[in-house]
Amino acid sequence: MEATNPTMANPSLLLESIFILFFLPPCLSCPEYQKQALLQFKSSILAINSSLHTLDSWNSSSSCCQWDNVTCTSPSNSTSTSTSRVVIALHLSNLFAQLYPEFSERMPSILLAPLFFIRSLMVLDISDNSIYGQIPALGFGNLSNLVHLDISQNKFNGSIPPQLFQLRHLRYLDLSHNSLHGSLSPKFDRWNPLFNAETKLNTLRLESNLLTGEIPSWLFNFKGLKTLHLGGNNLTWNNRVKIVPKCMLSELSLTSCSLEGEIPEWISTQKTVNFLDLSKNELQGSFPQWLAEIKVESMILSDNKLSGEVPTAFPQYIEILALGGNKFSGALPLNLTKLRNLQRLELQDNYISGELPNFLFHISHLQVLILRNNSLQGLIPKTISNLKYLQILDLSSNNLTGEIPIGFVNLAGMIEAPHLTSISNDVILVFHELISSNIMVNVLIVNWKKSKQGLPSHNIDMYFLLDLSNNQLSGEIPASLGGLKALKMLNLSYNKLSGKIPASLSDLQNLESLDLSHNKLSGSLPTTLSKLQQLTTFDVSNNQLIGRIPVGGQMDTMADPNYYANNSGLCGMQIRVPCPEDQSPAPKPQDYDNKEPWFLWEGMGIGYPVGFLLTIGIIFLAGYFNPSPPSNNHHRRPHHSIRQRV
Ligand SMILES: *[C@@H]1O[C@H](CO)[C@@H](O)[C@H](O)[C@H]1NC(C)=O
Ligand SMILES: *[C@@H]1O[C@H](CO)[C@@H](O)[C@H](O)[C@H]1NC(C)=O
Ligand SMILES: *[C@@H]1O[C@H](CO)[C@@H](O)[C@H](O)[C@H]1NC(C)=O
Ligand SMILES: *[C@@H]1O[C@H](CO)[C@@H](O)[C@H](O)[C@H]1NC(C)=O
Ligand SMILES: *[C@@H]1O[C@H](CO)[C@@H](O)[C@H](O)[C@H]1NC(C)=O
Ligand SMILES: *[C@@H]1O[C@H](CO)[C@@H](O)[C@H](O)[C@H]1NC(C)=O
Ligand SMILES: *[C@@H]1O[C@H](CO)[C@@H](O)[C@H](O)[C@H]1NC(C)=O
Ligand SMILES: *[C@@H]1O[C@H](CO)[C@@H](O)[C@H](O)[C@H]1NC(C)=O
Ligand SMILES: *[C@@H]1O[C@H](CO)[C@@H](O)[C@H](O)[C@H]1NC(C)=O
Ligand SMILES: *[C@@H]1O[C@H](CO)[C@@H](O)[C@H](O)[C@H]1NC(C)=O
Ligand SMILES: *[C@@H]1O[C@H](CO)[C@@H](O)[C@H](O)[C@H]1NC(C)=O
Ligand SMILES: *[C@@H]1O[C@H](CO)[C@@H](O)[C@H](O)[C@H]1NC(C)=O
Repeated sequence: MEATNPTMANPSLLLESIFILFFLPPCLSCPEYQKQALLQFKSSILAINSSLHTLDSWNSSSSCCQWDNVTCTSPSNSTSTSTSRVVIALHLSNLFAQLYPEFSERMPSILLAPLFFIRSLMVLDISDNSIYGQIPALGFGNLSNLVHLDISQNKFNGSIPPQLFQLRHLRYLDLSHNSLHGSLSPKFDRWNPLFNAETKLNTLRLESNLLTGEIPSWLFNFKGLKTLHLGGNNLTWNNRVKIVPKCMLSELSLTSCSLEGEIPEWISTQKTVNFLDLSKNELQGSFPQWLAEIKVESMILSDNKLSGEVPTAFPQYIEILALGGNKFSGALPLNLTKLRNLQRLELQDNYISGELPNFLFHISHLQVLILRNNSLQGLIPKTISNLKYLQILDLSSNNLTGEIPIGFVNLAGMIEAPHLTSISNDVILVFHELISSNIMVNVLIVNWKKSKQGLPSHNIDMYFLLDLSNNQLSGEIPASLGGLKALKMLNLSYNKLSGKIPASLSDLQNLESLDLSHNKLSGSLPTTLSKLQQLTTFDVSNNQLIGRIPVGGQMDTMADPNYYANNSGLCGMQIRVPCPEDQSPAPKPQDYDNKEPWFLWEGMGIGYPVGFLLTIGIIFLAGYFNPSPPSNNHHRRPHHSIRQRV
């Protein structure tokens, strides 16, 4: 099967192919030595795990040009000149996908050896295969026709071999997400003249490795360089070096590169930069005016020391604006409403004050709004219901007062994911395109299941979170919150909410984490909570609740006594506190081992040994029940792949 390869659309690639065509001997199928090399590669892969079927089509009785994931030069061109078809591209990303998660770190880099005989290769993608060991320097050095090389997301270690930088035709080089060591400078400086004169490189991705040393300024001399990602290493930046870039970047990531001082002004020459990530540095000073004049769509400046008023001028078409973890102060600026494309606004951990302005809720395309840990006060405006696409709202740790507005029920984005697409396809598409492109937008940090966790940007659309915790909200929990059916997390803890817990919360069928602790809630827990089948974290401690903790479903496993502590009389098998109705007639401690309550609890599927229960029972009756304060160690591993990537 002839795989269509998008890279073939690239004009320079076509030129390369033509070049190859003219200089090879005639033959219509792929050369035997290339076929043998590929078969040898296949057999060494199968030696790792024979149940791998990804390469089933690699069969010695057919031409290798017909195999899956192999691309040869085009046959039409071959017939006229009766030249050979040769292998020009191998797309071997994530070969072991079907075997995960059992498979990891079992493919030594030496298994790549046969591929280095296929010198006609222009595109080689072996990303995401858990390959370990050093990058085979001599081998890659032989592939002098390479235009596109992707070995990202493996476990390569050692240093970056100089041979890679001698591949004259290389345009795309992705070594990201490995364990590569060593310094880019000064060792690499010696290659600079060669590299500079010859290179056609337009993409260099080295992020998420263990590289050290200074970022060489000559990197910015490559006229063709468009994409440069260096973040997530241990690289440093020399402030004294004046940079006059010759490149016009469209993506630049210098996250955690120890940038100091003001935001470097040479970035203002990069008028077409689309994606700019300078997060996790030591940048100071204010948000410069010139930053509003570049065409950036994603601007990530989080976790620096930027200060001054919250900026009022922004790039007009910005979609993602992340300014969290800085020292911005003052009120939220009206100009934010001009940002028609803004989908994600992060301003957490700053010193923003004043009220939550009504106008904020006219940024109609917002999907993610994070204002956690500022000094916002006043009411939550009713107009919040304008935000039809909102999926993640975090207003926690402010000084908001008043009631939770009933308008929340109109947050269509939180009602049902499919509903979103029916509102407007355009916006959703834009967001997805941005995320699904290879750009690694910064992870979004939220409080989730009792700890701060990062949501991976590439599937952020799976998350529906509402966090109003740690404010001064009062009144009752509106029953209408039960309408936000997509919610995975609801945190209303540390407020002054009173009244009963509405039974409608059990309509939140996707809820995994529910925290109502530290309020003034009274009455009993709705028995219907047992309908919450995804629930893994449940905290109602420090309220005035009474009665039996509901049983059935996930509620049976919500058994951490800390999450029920300091109420007015909760009972139930989860906390091994008998309810009054279980105890009639009032028993004496020594009667417990053959009385009804123990039988009941065992019948509910907990199945603790009677001896254990007996001990607990006696401890409890002895007035010893005195739970320890909550700690952060209680969180469970989330169901979904929440993990942090820099
Ligand atoms: C190779 O493929 C052909 C047809 O595609 C099939 O008949 C043959 O059995 C295969 N051979 C092996 C060794 O799998
Ligand atoms: C390899 O080929 C198979 C079958 O055509 C296809 O499903 C898969 O996506 C290809 N893998 C890559 C990395 O292109
Ligand atoms: C093959 O030839 C066609 C014209 O016949 C041309 O458009 C195409 O670019 C050529 N492809 C390659 C890979 O050289
Ligand atoms: C191969 O992978 C399968 C599926 O993950 C696994 O069950 C099997 O144990 C693996 N075999 C070897 C030899 O590792
Ligand atoms: C690659 O080239 C080196 C010489 O530069 C040679 O020693 C080596 O055998 C070659 N490897 C392959 C796989 O062709
Ligand atoms: C690379 O990893 C291998 C094991 O995966 C280890 O034996 C070797 O020491 C590592 N090399 C370096 C330079 O870290
Ligand atoms: C990063 O580099 C600094 C100084 O070069 C060193 O002190 C520090 O331990 C390094 N950190 C890591 C994670 O390698
Ligand atoms: C609001 O933004 C516009 C450009 O969109 C800018 O000209 C104006 O100065 C900004 N207003 C303030 C108060 O900064
Ligand atoms: C809240 O924000 C301030 C100011 O940025 C920061 O110092 C503090 O650590 C933050 N608190 C939490 C709990 O993150
Ligand atoms: C909230 O307001 C009180 C006084 O009204 C103040 O002491 C406290 O510091 C404020 N908290 C925040 C986070 O702004
Ligand atoms: C809810 O929010 C509080 C305060 O912001 C936080 O301490 C707690 O861990 C959160 N609960 C969950 C379940 O994440
Ligand atoms: C219960 O309240 C006491 C006193 O306010 C407090 O010390 C303890 O930490 C609370 N327990 C839990 C689990 O919140």
